[in-house]
Amino acid sequence: MSPFRLTRTLPEDASGAALRADVRAGLIRTPKTLPPKWFYDARGSALFDRITTLPEYYPTRAEREILLARSPEIAAATGARTLVELGSGSSDKTRHLLDALVGLRTYVPVDVSASALEQAGAALLAQRPALDVHALIADFTTAVDLPVDAPGPRLVAFLGGTIGNLLPAERAAFLHSVRSLVAPGDALLLGTDLVKDEATLVAAYDDAAGVTAAFNKNVLTVINRELGADFDLDDFAHVARWDAEREWIEMRLRARTAVTVKVPAVNLAVDFEAGEELRTEVSAKFREAGVRAELAAARWEVTRWWTDRAGRFALSLSTAR
Ligand code: AVJ
Repeated sequence: MSPFRLTRTLPEDASGAALRADVRAGLIRTPKTLPPKWFYDARGSALFDRITTLPEYYPTRAEREILLARSPEIAAATGARTLVELGSGSSDKTRHLLDALVGLRTYVPVDVSASALEQAGAALLAQRPALDVHALIADFTTAVDLPVDAPGPRLVAFLGGTIGNLLPAERAAFLHSVRSLVAPGDALLLGTDLVKDEATLVAAYDDAAGVTAAFNKNVLTVINRELGADFDLDDFAHVARWDAEREWIEMRLRARTAVTVKVPAVNLAVDFEAGEELRTEVSAKFREAGVRAELAAARWEVTRWWTDRAGRFALSLSTAR
């Protein structure tokens, strides 16, 4: 029996159907929006990996600093035998945690990208041959089912600040659904980027080298390839804006001139006015009291709250009530 299993909970064509539905719904509404999950094809995932190395993009380094310092405490506090990682991607930043979790039997990385799961699974098994790796191809924003052989205590990790990509109502639903995955006493490790000065935040989403701009426009490349659309990337400019009221960063693509874009797979011809903006991502920033309140509302009790030394990013450890 191989210690690496890959289970597809999404039907083969689920992502095609979901992309068509999201593009159709998002481009006929005002203002136009697209969900951020469509950035991450192979090129988009590689661009995101580059973003994490940019001088302006502090969240990855800040979170790694906390994980490096606190993984032994997380391991001691949870005694986890199963680690479920939602949106695991390359599983890179999880390495410290995996190393510290000495009693771990089962690792369940969950991601929409089969290629990321296969690469990460192979790398991990080379280091931890006795670990049972049960990768799930699934969209963490919809319900996931844990494999039967996921012994407690369980620790669910959702890192990187990706929870900020969900709108407040989606976050509430998500935290409830994660809570319903586990039993009382199980744990949640959550990464949240924190509110800070506007200049630092905007620079993190509008870097000087233009990598984030290329990442943002990559969603148009995905739609061109998958849905036969004819977006000209040069017709759009990258925009990163801080919404001080809602305390989130928005990435948008602004039409430089009036253009009409055909999207044959969904039978659409979409008009953009000159200057019209398409919202491609919300990345919410948090405060401690807000994170505690949102978790409490979903029956999670925060037991530990850690930030990096500069206070830019937080990891919280919560227990299921
Ligand atoms: C991977 C969702 C945490 O919101 O900061 C990076 C994605 N977008 N630069 C974030 C992203 C623009 C990132 N997350």
